[in-house]
Amino acid sequence: MSPLEWDASLETGDALVDGQHRGILLFVNEVAALESDDPIVILGVVDRLMEHVDTHFAAEEELMMRGGYPADACNEHKAAHRMLKDKARAATLGFRGSWNITREPFVEFLGTWLVDHIETEDRKMIDYLKAHPTAR
Ligand SMILES: [Fe+2]
Ligand SMILES: [Fe+2]
Repeated sequence: MSPLEWDASLETGDALVDGQHRGILLFVNEVAALESDDPIVILGVVDRLMEHVDTHFAAEEELMMRGGYPADACNEHKAAHRMLKDKARAATLGFRGSWNITREPFVEFLGTWLVDHIETEDRKMIDYLKAHPTAR
């Protein structure tokens, strides 16, 4: 997998969210570039990556709540976060249960999902919050 590159299409304009997104993409690249096939090493990096993802999702959900993001859109966004976490959990269970590590499909899926989510759901949410600043 070629490394994920940060570019303007991924900027939402919110410094906290953009900073966290950059950090997560760096982590995805780190997992993709690991030379080691040692499951302990791979799981160590994947676990740190998923901690960042958890922290980031919680931060966005807090922003949505404080910013008065409409309930329907909020629920949809949170469901997308939950789905990604469930899939990641299933994948890491797979890693843990097997010495035959196939991380490429997981990293590929995660990278594609994140970029798509940032460009659609996250952008929509930040645009709304910027357009309704008094609610924040
Ligand atoms: Fe995000
Ligand atoms: Fe999000």
